[in-house]
Amino acid sequence: MNKKNYFLDFISYHFTKLKRKSLIGLTQLVLIFYKRKISEELILIMKKNRDHLRTVKEFLPEGEYDHVNNNYGIQNYIFSNLKNEIDLFPTYTDVLVLLIEELNFKKPIYLEIGTSVFKNFQQIENFLEDSILYGYDMNDLITTIHDKYNFKSMTEETSNQEYFHSKEKNEIFYFKNNVLSKEGAEIFKNLLKGKINVIFSDALHSEEGIMSEYENIVKNNLSNEFIYYFDDLNMYDVQAGVERVFKDIKINNEKVRFYSFWTYGWIGQYEKLHKIGLITTLDINCLLKEKKLSLPLFKEVTNV
Ligand SMILES: C[S@@+](CC[C@H](N)C(=O)[O-])C[C@H]1O[C@@H](n2cnc3c(N)ncnc32)[C@H](O)[C@@H]1O
Repeated sequence: MNKKNYFLDFISYHFTKLKRKSLIGLTQLVLIFYKRKISEELILIMKKNRDHLRTVKEFLPEGEYDHVNNNYGIQNYIFSNLKNEIDLFPTYTDVLVLLIEELNFKKPIYLEIGTSVFKNFQQIENFLEDSILYGYDMNDLITTIHDKYNFKSMTEETSNQEYFHSKEKNEIFYFKNNVLSKEGAEIFKNLLKGKINVIFSDALHSEEGIMSEYENIVKNNLSNEFIYYFDDLNMYDVQAGVERVFKDIKINNEKVRFYSFWTYGWIGQYEKLHKIGLITTLDINCLLKEKKLSLPLFKEVTNV
């Protein structure tokens, strides 16, 4: 019995690996077309991000990585590619930087739900100055990030709950909480210093997770002009949640639109593309035309 299971596990492991590698190969072929359609502005953003990534010595110290319990949302193959050089095709981070620069806010309030090892967060922070950034995740703050930003442990007054705070080039808050916890979200909201302009939603990939973070944190705290950016729109029932969020925001904000497209994720060419959902007040159709930029399978989602 055990022998049989071992054999099935072996086949399943190699089948999954082969499928992943075939998809990556196919993606690289398709991207030859898109790589010719990247604007100079985005190339500059990519270069700045790649340069910044090179300065990061370690995203997660070996001792803090637990591949069995898969903490920080990092599977083995992600962990082994986390530090590898990403080529010049846009990741979700590069596109997000481009979009943030289009907002009318010089000093946006940024919230990332699901910060993991801060790979995306550090690149966004690098582009901002005098801004306020919030990191939200159910994991402990990793020591490298704690030291890099010189975080101090603080206590939220009404609840005695611990959070972390840093004030250097930007002001940064880190709050440890499960997105399904309404109680924790209520405490987190006391730390908000204004309406949120940019949200990157990348934590619990389910309709329940998306709805919980929207209802408990984002709703009523969203600025009139905003970017609400979702990774892994194609995973499980994430899209159902994002559509519900879009419908709800649209009730009070006619300007809002919902788009989707595909980009590299946090390890670039070492995995398949990620499907991104974008709810925003920016006119992305116009923006892409103006910047002569073409993103894989870009579309405005209108059938919601
Ligand atoms: C894919 S990683 C985020 C990657 C990160 N945004 C980046 O691009 O560098 C997802 C993170 O969400 C966290 N997460 C998953 N479920 C969560 C939940 N229910 N509440 C809070 N965080 C959660 C995981 O622990 C992990 O750190």
